[in-house]
Amino acid sequence: MTQNTKKLNAAREAIKYVQPNCILGVGTGSTVNFFIDALADIKDKIKGAVSSSVASTERLKALGIKVLDLNDVESFDIYVDGADEINHQMDMIKGGGAALTREKIVAAVAKSFVCIVDDSKVVDVLGKFPLPVEVIPMARAYVARELNKLGGQAVYREGCVTDNGNHILDVHGLAITDPKELEKQINAIAGVVTVGLFAKRGADVLIIGKEAGVEVIK
Ligand code: 5RP
Repeated sequence: MTQNTKKLNAAREAIKYVQPNCILGVGTGSTVNFFIDALADIKDKIKGAVSSSVASTERLKALGIKVLDLNDVESFDIYVDGADEINHQMDMIKGGGAALTREKIVAAVAKSFVCIVDDSKVVDVLGKFPLPVEVIPMARAYVARELNKLGGQAVYREGCVTDNGNHILDVHGLAITDPKELEKQINAIAGVVTVGLFAKRGADVLIIGKEAGVEVIK
């Protein structure tokens, strides 16, 4: 089975969490793209989606799914998104697709985070995947020096400008044994917009596409 088939199976399983007449949050990435495609089949049964990126907004609209402004929505039940890594405590590294800030905002409003991944994303310790940090452009070099003091090697993601007009530093070489504490520490650096650690608000439901089928962990 290919990695894409595993992503597709996880995405289709997540459709079961979409209630009739609901608003839902939609993440960003190749796994979520499978989810958006599946959501199109039931688009007349939902009120609409709040999107976490320009890319997902375009895909949702192209398939005729109504996109709502987060400022017009007080709360909604589920946010469906992928992850670059997820551990057994449901903490995640996200931001491989540079959408981490809007993802964190939309996830914060949702009552439940449904994470959809293929089994390559499940790890014991976060950090093999370089940790993305969105930074204000003028603070890039300063933030990189501060991140290096935490034990990583921050690398500027050349040519990447986020939907918010900011830059991304990818921090290599971290073994993240205390994700909540590291999230707090990195958030406290002046110039950091968002760190791609989702530990304070981790996943509530994890759907893993595997060789043998789909595993759901709550
Ligand atoms: C984008 C993200 C994605 O959820 C993450 O990169 C996983 O993407 P994919 O489903 O393509 O593997 O955080 O910012």
